Amino acid sequence: MTKIECILRPEKFEQVKEALSKFGVRGMTVSQVMGCGLQKGRTEIYRGTEISINLLPKIKLEIVTIDNRVDELVKIITETARTGAIGDGKIFVYAVQNAIRVRTGETGDKALE
Ligand SMILES: Nc1ncnc2c1ncn2[C@@H]1O[C@H](COP(=O)(O)OP(=O)(O)OP(=O)(O)O)[C@@H](O)[C@H]1O
Ligand SMILES: [Mg+2]
Repeated sequence: MTKIECILRPEKFEQVKEALSKFGVRGMTVSQVMGCGLQKGRTEIYRGTEISINLLPKIKLEIVTIDNRVDELVKIITETARTGAIGDGKIFVYAVQNAIRVRTGETGDKALE
């Protein structure tokens, strides 16, 4: 199992969610977060001085999936979330040790189906 954690532009999230839904993704966790990347959240120089770090609102989307869907999911998310401008976001991919469906006690891939 693999966790795909994506930091996305808030204005792109609906489109990404729609694309994932078409692909059959059901379980996901979504949070509103603040963050910055390479440019440290700078969109302009404030009053002639450089702001050290400025946090911008982003959406964090987490999906745990069976391993053989990872590449396709990452492709769909990347293509849907991209505008080509700085700040399009990042995707982090993690190995997941286990998953447990609380209602039934099912574990591993079975807990995700
Ligand atoms: N190294 C990192 N660790 C954790 N979160 C990060 C990291 N880099 C980016 N993020 C998160 O992703 C969001 C979007 O990052 P962003 O798209 O600006 O990345 P970037 O590396 O600066 O690429 P770009 O040059 O395209 O802007 C940030 O606001 C932050 O929440
Ligand atoms: Mg950036």
